[in-house]
Amino acid sequence: EPQIIRNKQEMRNWSRSMRAQNKTIGLVPTMGYLHQGHLSLITEAQKHTQLTVVSIYINPGQFTINEDLSTYPSDFQGDINKLKSLPNGVDVVFNPQNLYDYGVETGELGVGNEGGVVCCLEGAGHETWVRVEKLEKGMCGKSRPVFFRGVATVVAKLFNIVEPDVAVFGKKDYQQWRVIRRMVRDLDFAVKVIGSELKREEDGLAMSSRNVHLSQQEREQALSISRALFEAKSAAKKGNSNCSKLRRSVIESIEAAGGKIDYVEIVDQESLETVEEIKDGVVVCVAAWFGKVRLIDNIEIDAS
Ligand code: PAJ
Repeated sequence: EPQIIRNKQEMRNWSRSMRAQNKTIGLVPTMGYLHQGHLSLITEAQKHTQLTVVSIYINPGQFTINEDLSTYPSDFQGDINKLKSLPNGVDVVFNPQNLYDYGVETGELGVGNEGGVVCCLEGAGHETWVRVEKLEKGMCGKSRPVFFRGVATVVAKLFNIVEPDVAVFGKKDYQQWRVIRRMVRDLDFAVKVIGSELKREEDGLAMSSRNVHLSQQEREQALSISRALFEAKSAAKKGNSNCSKLRRSVIESIEAAGGKIDYVEIVDQESLETVEEIKDGVVVCVAAWFGKVRLIDNIEIDAS
C-alpha cells in the first residue's frame, strides 16, 4: 500500500525524515491515468534509489484555457491499484489538490496571461515562472506557448517539495525531457534526471493517457504516426540522409491516413535544432491531430 500524501509540508517532512535515515529518493512526476509507459518509469527509478515517490497532479499551469485541462482523464483509484500491483510497489503517492494554494481558497480557476495567451491557473498568488528560453521555443512550444514554462515551473516546485535524488522522465515527451535536464543543469538542482525509453502498444501506437479519447477509427488512423517514424528510420539507415525528403514522406503518410500535422521536425537530440542531413544522434519528432486528440511521438536515429 503506498502512503498517500496530499499536503506539501507533509511531503517534505516525509522526504526529510527518510533522508535523515540515509535513504535515497526517486521521483516520477505524472498527471495520472497511469499506463505501462508511466509504470516503466517507476521501474527505472527503482534501479537508482531505495524509495520511490510518484506524483499525480494535473498541472493547470501548463494548459491554456483552450486546451484539454477540463477533459484530461483521471482515475485515482485505478492508478493506486496499478501502483499496488508493481513488484516493488511505490512508497508514496504525492497527490496535492492544488500546488498553487498560497493561502488562497481553492476552487476557482484564475488566469495567467502570457502575451495574450490565457493559461489555466489558480493565479491569485503565482507569478514566478521558469523558462528554458531556447529549448522551449520550437516544436510543442510553438503550438502550446505556455506549456514548457508551466512544466518547468511545476517540476521545479515538485523538486523543491519532494527533494528527490533522482527523477525519471519519459523520452515520449522528448522536448520536455530536454527542457527539464537543462533547467536542472542551469539552476543547479541537486537532482539526477534520467530519460527513460518510450513505451508503445503492441501495434506501435505510443502509449498516452490521451489515447482513451480516440475513437476506434481515429486510433486506427493514428497508427500512421509510428509507422511513418519506423519507415523514416529504416530509410535513414539505408542511407537516405536528406531530412527534407524524410520529413516530407512522414507528413504525407500521416496526412494520407487522415491526421492533421502540427509539426514534423528532424532535430539534434541534444540541442533540438533542425538538421538538414541525418547525422549521429538525431530524433524525428511528430505532433498530429486525430479528431480532437493531439498526439506526439518520436524516434531516435543513432549511428548504425
Ligand atoms: P504525463 O503525461 O502524465 O507523463 C508523465 C511521465 O510519463 C512523463 O515523463 C512522460 O514522458 C512519461 N510517459 C508518458 N507516456 C509515456 C510512454 N509511452 N513511454 C514512456 N514514458 C511515457 O508529462 C507529464 O505528465 C507532465 O508534463 C509532468 C512532467 C508530470 C508535469 O506536469
